Amino acid sequence: MSSALTGLSRYPIVQAPMAGGASRPQLAAAVGAAGGLGFLAAGYKTPAAMYEEIKHLRAQSDVPFGVNLFMPQPATSDPSAVAVYAEQLAGEAAWYETPLGDPDSGNDDAYEAKLAILLDDPVPVVSFTFGCPTRAVCEALARVGTVTVVTVTTVEEALAAHAAGADAVCVQGIEAGGHQGTHRDDPHAQGMGAGLGLLALIELVRDAVPLPLIAAGGLMRGTQIAAVLAAGASAAQLGTAFLVCPESGAHELHKRAMTDTTFTRTELTRAFSGRPARGLANRFLREHGPYAPVAYPQVHHLTSGLRKAAAQAGDPQGMALWAGQGHRLAREMPAGHLVQVLVDELEAARAGLAARAGLAAPQPRSGAGDVA
Ligand SMILES: Cc1cc2nc3c(=O)[nH]c(=O)nc-3n(C[C@H](O)[C@H](O)[C@H](O)COP(=O)(O)O)c2cc1C
Repeated sequence: MSSALTGLSRYPIVQAPMAGGASRPQLAAAVGAAGGLGFLAAGYKTPAAMYEEIKHLRAQSDVPFGVNLFMPQPATSDPSAVAVYAEQLAGEAAWYETPLGDPDSGNDDAYEAKLAILLDDPVPVVSFTFGCPTRAVCEALARVGTVTVVTVTTVEEALAAHAAGADAVCVQGIEAGGHQGTHRDDPHAQGMGAGLGLLALIELVRDAVPLPLIAAGGLMRGTQIAAVLAAGASAAQLGTAFLVCPESGAHELHKRAMTDTTFTRTELTRAFSGRPARGLANRFLREHGPYAPVAYPQVHHLTSGLRKAAAQAGDPQGMALWAGQGHRLAREMPAGHLVQVLVDELEAARAGLAARAGLAAPQPRSGAGDVA
């Protein structure tokens, strides 16, 4: 890795923060021990629970790691659209015998309180998604020695991250599993699914800002990591690939669904949270995705009980099965082993590329005197 990220890990491999339980301390510790950079996900957790995980990770490991924060969301959503969606979900509530959640359970994810903890007891890296922190926040984190990373899905967001003083950007392609980290969910500015593919986005962002890039979205193999490094990224961030590891806290049904041939494709949907996120196309997504409103995190709160009830009932058709486009390439193995396999594949890909480049290179022409 380059710049401020240098020295944080031996290999240019980052385990993505995955809110909802997957990126537990044991996953980040295993990735870190193997030479990658692990992340904890603070999203949806209380500040106290976030801090417990940090302490838990430090007790297991002394390698560097990151913590990911959700940016507070503007209270712009249309309450009547949320009320209509709640009516449309009434059949789900009856089926799973679970009331819908309160959509007004908060839209700031306790950002300020989490930030205060991270300034008081600093961690090596803090990354942000769903928005861009202020310059004051980036500077305060820099003063305590923390590297800051902002997730971006467009050139404009990368420019905002640079202007705010972030140390690096995590460039998230449309292929990525889970939520798009788009700074503002504006369906008029960008239709669902209109986002950029990772390789195009890397090049566009590289042209626009002089910051190190971490590439994310659909990366499952070392060959793909070689491709994004060749395109100019300093590191690759993988979520779905690590989700199936035994150290991941993702639900067993979620892990199994990644390679279950019943699920043939992924889709971007607002059905579960009100913000575009990529998951396996299951019954809930297909039925409710077409009319789910632009209302994050209100819809997240609304469906939270339903998703838990579906998981408890052993029904993956009602769960949010977040997955990147490469999900079928998931390999279930200990996270440390996966890092090593990815590194071996990356090195083999680089060697193969060098050999092919050698073959393709123009051969030195023989001098005129050598002509027979
Ligand atoms: C289950 C799951 C949860 C995620 N949660 C977060 C999160 O809390 N914060 C974040 O910045 N990104 C989150 N992401 C997105 C990842 O950071 C990353 O962009 C994505 O996993 C890359 O695509 P891939 O899954 O195809 O590797 C999540 C992804 C998944 C699959």
